[in-house]
Amino acid sequence: MAQLLWWENAVIYQIYPRSFQDSNHDGVGDLQGIIQRLDYIANLGVDAIWISPFFTSPQKDFGYDVADYCDIHHEYGTLADFDALIEKAHDLGLKLMVDIVPAHCSEEHKWFQESRQSRDNPKADWFHWVDPLPDGSAPTNWLSFFGGRAWSFEPRRQQYYLHNFLPSQPNLNYANPDVMNAMMDVARFWFDRGVDGFRLDAVHTINADSAPYKDNPANPEFVLGPLPQDQQPFFRQYHDGAQLNQPNIQRFSEEIRKVADSYDDRYLMGECDGDNDNAMMVSQTFTQAGRLHATYNFDLLKWDGLSVEGMRDAIAKAVEAFNDSGRLSFAFSNHDVPRSASRQLAKLGLDESQQQAMQLLLLQLEISLIGSACIYQGEELALPDVQDIPLDKMQDPWGIEFAPAFLGRDTCRTPMVWQTTAPHGGFSEANDTWLPVAEAHLSRAGLDEAERPQSNYNKLASFLKWRKDQPAMMEANTMTAPTGDAHQIIFTRISDKQSLRCCFDFETLSASFEEI
Ligand code: BGC
Repeated sequence: MAQLLWWENAVIYQIYPRSFQDSNHDGVGDLQGIIQRLDYIANLGVDAIWISPFFTSPQKDFGYDVADYCDIHHEYGTLADFDALIEKAHDLGLKLMVDIVPAHCSEEHKWFQESRQSRDNPKADWFHWVDPLPDGSAPTNWLSFFGGRAWSFEPRRQQYYLHNFLPSQPNLNYANPDVMNAMMDVARFWFDRGVDGFRLDAVHTINADSAPYKDNPANPEFVLGPLPQDQQPFFRQYHDGAQLNQPNIQRFSEEIRKVADSYDDRYLMGECDGDNDNAMMVSQTFTQAGRLHATYNFDLLKWDGLSVEGMRDAIAKAVEAFNDSGRLSFAFSNHDVPRSASRQLAKLGLDESQQQAMQLLLLQLEISLIGSACIYQGEELALPDVQDIPLDKMQDPWGIEFAPAFLGRDTCRTPMVWQTTAPHGGFSEANDTWLPVAEAHLSRAGLDEAERPQSNYNKLASFLKWRKDQPAMMEANTMTAPTGDAHQIIFTRISDKQSLRCCFDFETLSASFEEI
């Protein structure tokens, strides 16, 4: 059987650049800092890195609001730094993925600056501009993910514009072919610089249809949940086919795939979602032939933690939809959700060493599944979520809006720690850092843990090394449906050469593998 393509079973390490390593003492991570720590990542044995956005940006949504897609934000460095970063990554055998945000840009992008001036400038139709209803109200009932309406008023045009996230993140109008072409030029710019793939941010929120826009229906299944994030008005509506996942959305996937296919071996992984039970179908639609290579699966990221049964069900659903393919990527943590080491399962009265065992088990499980796996910086150290950031130090606009009921995403974005005894854990030599370094992280600093033979870092490194010799994991993407009692998840990975039974036991907190 042929070897899989690199991305079909890649282990991808996600870097949040603002919080990885500061090299110029301003309290903010940067590209040179990433270069300094690439050996640490390569020695772990992962296959690729995905770097969250580092493009020019006012940082209102910390880089997911792009003011120039083809340049580097001044706090992070220069294009020359990026070229040095990609060169070193490739020398170390790491593929490099960048995080493109196609659905919306920043209000500071020159496209929007021009577009908002009048109804007849050359960029007038690059965004979704709509007249008010006769009573002056917004054109539809659409809401923003971050709270409030998805339409804001622009007095210069006497019209509303659409933003599915912050008002400072206007949605681009993909019904206009000029917008599509401009974004394809962005893709070529980064492919020409040598990037191996893109993580495509929130692709299901690309608005590819223009007026008439239709109202979202109410979501009759909405239940006011126990967590503040379950209570957001956004989820009181269904969105598919109206505000999100619009009929023409796949034109984007098809165009960008053509661009990727004009280069060798490049990869497109889209973050996409759908209403309740639609999510899997949406993922399948985005990855049909001629569209994105893979989607990023949300099910293991659930905020309130998952029971073993919950995880097993989520895996079963995904495997049923994607077995025998590498068209999906699993993750337990990222820059948008509380760190997995602190979720319910890890809080069941576990002491510190049990918590670390639990985190290692989750990673071994995720990596043993079909498809690729994304590890978020610090998961290899079992860093817990940081719930005690003082309100006046909070940065995430979503958290600031909802605190203290919901702390937003700063809790998983605090800076990485590298050396227990260094100032700010070795993250920065500045007096102050953009988010405080967590005291609770200092005892698990990365460079120190890499030196300690029994650390989670080294246990994960050994697991990744062992995996490379397992044909069932490296040469095919096939597995049986997961089974097991209330504390176990068991499945078999199968290739022509090997059948490998994989068992993850959440009572003993251990994984075992057996050739059968
Ligand atoms: C990113 C978030 C971001 C949002 C808007 C998401 O899915 O992961 O961090 O705030 O898209 O771009």
